[in-house]
Amino acid sequence: MEHFYFDIPGWFGFHDVYDRAIALLGKDGAHFVEVGSWEGKSAAYMGVNILNSGKKIRFDCVDTWKGSREHIDRGELDALWSKFRGNMSRFDYTGLDIRAIRKPSLLAAKQYADQSLDFVFLDASHDAEDVYDDITAWMPKLKPSGVLAGDDVAWMGVREGLIRAGVGVEGNPVVPSGGTYLSWIFPLDGNTEPWVTKDPEESDKSYVDGQLLSSVEVLRDSMGIEGDFYGQ
Ligand SMILES: C[S@@+](CC[C@H](N)C(=O)[O-])C[C@H]1O[C@@H](n2cnc3c(N)ncnc32)[C@H](O)[C@@H]1O
Repeated sequence: MEHFYFDIPGWFGFHDVYDRAIALLGKDGAHFVEVGSWEGKSAAYMGVNILNSGKKIRFDCVDTWKGSREHIDRGELDALWSKFRGNMSRFDYTGLDIRAIRKPSLLAAKQYADQSLDFVFLDASHDAEDVYDDITAWMPKLKPSGVLAGDDVAWMGVREGLIRAGVGVEGNPVVPSGGTYLSWIFPLDGNTEPWVTKDPEESDKSYVDGQLLSSVEVLRDSMGIEGDFYGQ
């Protein structure tokens, strides 16, 4: 199937993370979840790549489709759900097992059995408390071989939530991955090596060259950001 994600408005810079999720975790029967889908830009990318991989991966999209705190002033929130469904209708009759879970993240997490998921990508709220809650709610749902990842390390709240949850700190390194706002990848088995990007040319996005993160300072340095972050 041809990609169509670039026709969908949204925030998506983590192509390489999704590519590696399919390559490293995608086998028949695997179960992936995206938390925070908006109109479906990143979901469309994942969906097409799952289909093109030929693997039978189930892919769930969790969202309230009501927007996050930073979206409150945007006018289009009432139409969000129908826009998402319209965009995802491109997958009708393709055989892709894609499901929309229209619930708050923490409620949605409860519907999954512990240790049942292979890959969860967090792209919902950027508030520290919510990020912490999302990490602690979804982490137990992953298999021991599973991977928790997320976007927007450039947001102060995301970094705070990560560190509070003990992710991306000493002993629990995350792999940073390029994109507009920098993603993080946390393999539960601690085997970060396969997730480190070896060939930055593989994607159209910038990378942080596979540097492992052990502290927020490393994170900050790796991003080359001085001064304030978003959300402060
Ligand atoms: C940054 S957008 C996601 C962008 C999307 N991945 C893309 O490719 O454009 C964040 C989304 O998270 C959703 N969201 C925020 N907090 C949430 C929560 N607690 N539970 C479920 N969804 C939430 C919002 O409704 C919004 O659609």
